[in-house]
Amino acid sequence: MNTHLHVTAWGLAIILFVVALVLHKKGNEKAGKIVQMILRLDYLLILYSGGDLIMNYFGDSPMMAEAIVKGLAGVGVIAGMEMTLGKIKDGDSAKVGWSVLLISLLITIVLGFFRLPGGLA
Ligand code: HEM
Repeated sequence: MNTHLHVTAWGLAIILFVVALVLHKKGNEKAGKIVQMILRLDYLLILYSGGDLIMNYFGDSPMMAEAIVKGLAGVGVIAGMEMTLGKIKDGDSAKVGWSVLLISLLITIVLGFFRLPGGLA
């Protein structure tokens, strides 16, 4: 199963996102850009592993709708990270990006850990 890869990939994304933010706040634009590039490669890993997991729900699963919402929220987390980093880099308000990020993250965690049956075992 791809759950380990999936959890590792989004765990890494959260770390890289925070590192990129901190580097930006410290004025280290070059290092921040490099970290954001690695973060973007990590999105591919998240999409690949999440896409693989969601295949389990297509067909006759009674939880297909929740799995789809989970996947959309996962894409929302990625969009929120990109919006937040982009706005902060431009010196604009990142309120919308933060909202998209935090609401999507909440939905992914609730559906991923507490509703959908797959686990780390
Ligand atoms: C940064 C974005 C994402 C976060 C934070 C996230 C979070 C999670 C969490 C917490 C789980 C539960 C792991 C477990 O059961 O142990 C999970 C599983 C899953 N994720 Fe994601 N995810 C993200 C992106 C995606 C994307 C983009 C997709 C779809 C394309 C996706 C589809 C799934 C599916 C189908 C599962 C399996 C649920 C299960 O069988 O339990 N995720 N994810």
